[in-house]
Amino acid sequence: MNSCPADARPGVQSEELSFEEFNRTSIRQRSQDMSESAVQTTRQNPLQYVSEQLKDLRAKGVAPKLRILDGEQKPVCIFDGKEVINLASNNYLGLTTHKALRKAAVDAAKTLGAGAGAVRTIAGTMQLHMQLEEQIAKFKNVEACVVFQSGFTANAGTVSAVLGKEDLIVSDELNHASIIDGARLSRATIKVFKHKDVKDCERILQEHSDFPGKKLIITDGVFSMDGDIAPLPQLCDVAEKYDCIMMVDDAHASGVLGRGGRGTIDHFNCHGRVHIQVGTLSKAIGVMGGYVCGSRELIDFLYLRARPFLFSTSHTPATAAACMAAFSLLDSPAGEKLVKKLWANTKVFKRELKKRGFQFKGSETPIVPIHVGDAAKAFEFSKKLFDAGVFAPAVGYPTVAEGKARLRAIVSAGHKKEQLVKAADILAEAAKPLGIIG
Ligand SMILES: Cc1ncc(COP(=O)(O)O)c(C=O)c1O
Repeated sequence: MNSCPADARPGVQSEELSFEEFNRTSIRQRSQDMSESAVQTTRQNPLQYVSEQLKDLRAKGVAPKLRILDGEQKPVCIFDGKEVINLASNNYLGLTTHKALRKAAVDAAKTLGAGAGAVRTIAGTMQLHMQLEEQIAKFKNVEACVVFQSGFTANAGTVSAVLGKEDLIVSDELNHASIIDGARLSRATIKVFKHKDVKDCERILQEHSDFPGKKLIITDGVFSMDGDIAPLPQLCDVAEKYDCIMMVDDAHASGVLGRGGRGTIDHFNCHGRVHIQVGTLSKAIGVMGGYVCGSRELIDFLYLRARPFLFSTSHTPATAAACMAAFSLLDSPAGEKLVKKLWANTKVFKRELKKRGFQFKGSETPIVPIHVGDAAKAFEFSKKLFDAGVFAPAVGYPTVAEGKARLRAIVSAGHKKEQLVKAADILAEAAKPLGIIG
């Protein structure tokens, strides 16, 4: 007689039941559930508070709806049925639609299938995953690399694996949410230093000079909401002085800063001074995923302890193959040309905005924040722009602090000069009546 595992049966711990008995029990359970659900309709909705909060956000004008892309992610494309100049995407180099990446993805799907079928540590490590890791490690000039499903999981999984509750994390106040969440998950003591303030970082470490646990200094390489660059050489000096682990999240620097987009470490020539380098495959690389670069032992440890690596399925063959094609491109003269074009476009756009009276203090990269302050006003600004043919999103709390809402425009290598000039005109027209520029 067939039997059913005890732990699959409601209310049964140890004895074995036949399938017939199990089915009878399940039917009884289902009819009981159905009469309970009838009672529930008369009970108060336990998620009522969610509806109320949503209503409140909508009333304040800070609940923008999702814009829906119709077709490809390109410098000019169609969102919500309207053609707009796209200043909203992290597709810095235009690789999302590059023919080499498309071909690699299609070929991999044809030959290897649609999915990896398991987490990396069980049966989901394909040759492509290992090849991609080797390729990135070589590109970044480090011993080894591990690829995660996203930049978010790379940060959160790594910080929480490497640090524990007896340790200290010293973190820039504008670090990305994935670093903050990883730090919280680690249960380490978290101390926050003022944005890019090396002295403040050092002050915290002096105050914790007899802290018994391990210490980590962590910073974004390029700050995603302000477009400024971390003072990496000085932070490395402090890390070395106080015997800290140094970690950098280069999500917005990969493919943007350094030779051929090798990142902040390359930009500042800090090779060998940063123990943990995180990057994303979802922005300039144009696909999806994140990675951590470092020593062979660090990576082997993350293979065993980074929870998103252990507990979430690996990339599809198409994703891994497209990422490999992106790194091959970056590592070629064509890639260098794209990075140069990105910076040339950034210069044009910033110059055109400045001519029209915009200020974007601090930005040193293709991320151009236009500070507005009030969130509802920032969303109104963004909507006006959209109606006039430019898509640049407003960013408010919780992405930035309350009262620091802004419009964030991102330039790509794929923009044409005339598109950037036209976008600057439209920005100025929308900004003036709102008092954002004079
Ligand atoms: C600084 C920073 N780190 C990490 C991430 C997460 O990257 P991903 O989109 O690959 O999860 C982002 C994305 O917004 C980011 O801006």
